[in-house]
Amino acid sequence: MFFKKKSHEIDLNNLPKHIGFIMDGNGRWAKKRGLPRSAGHRAGAESLKKIITEANNLGVKYATVYAFSTENWKRPKDEVDYLMSLLMDYLVNAEKTLSRENVVIRAIGSRKELSEEMQRQIIKTEEFTKKNTGIVMNIALNYGGRDELVNAVRSICTEGKVPDDITADDIERHLYTAGQPDVDLLIRTSGEQRLSNFMLWQVSYAEMWFTDKLWPDFKPADLHRAILDYQNRGRRFGGI
Ligand code: FPP
Repeated sequence: MFFKKKSHEIDLNNLPKHIGFIMDGNGRWAKKRGLPRSAGHRAGAESLKKIITEANNLGVKYATVYAFSTENWKRPKDEVDYLMSLLMDYLVNAEKTLSRENVVIRAIGSRKELSEEMQRQIIKTEEFTKKNTGIVMNIALNYGGRDELVNAVRSICTEGKVPDDITADDIERHLYTAGQPDVDLLIRTSGEQRLSNFMLWQVSYAEMWFTDKLWPDFKPADLHRAILDYQNRGRRFGGI
């Protein structure tokens, strides 16, 4: 028997392989409630767990979440410290929660500016989850798209390549996301419509999806909406 697919149902055979999330609006979410910004970030971290679980259940293979940019050090020290402690807790707890759900956790970004404790925990969580077979969650932590490209170019130079021999594949091999597919769908919350130095190379052909919802209010149903919209777009990758 042939059933016509309903337009409000996600086609599981046409999922975005890689979804990028710019999780914006934690501060505004807290302010609206008369709470400190830290409460917004905490709520944002809770939201993130639910969204990754949902993406994993649907069968999405990769998700990259923008947790802390190379520019976020400019925030007040209190806020930076809070974000770092939240990230630390997230990594520690992920060994119990997300890992049980078969999630592979990786950190992308420059590690040397992070505390030694954080660097050790990243290695531990990556090791702990690397045998999992579900969604790969890249946590972009002290990450900047420009920084990533500069590092890639530097590494290529150390390989002794002459300029004419450098290819796009060489650059890709040196990205933090080497070996992973490009981002198909980029979601940004809170009404802002910009990239903010996020995965500049990997989003070249991504479909962008924006919502006014603030990140802590972003629910699995919103993820479904974004994926449905994605599936209704015509992707041409420069062709016709
Ligand atoms: C942007 O909101 C959000 C961030 C800079 C941090 C994102 C962090 C989280 C979602 C929680 C922690 C993440 C993990 C992985 C534990 P904003 O503070 O710029 O909000 P605003 O624009 O409303 O001020």
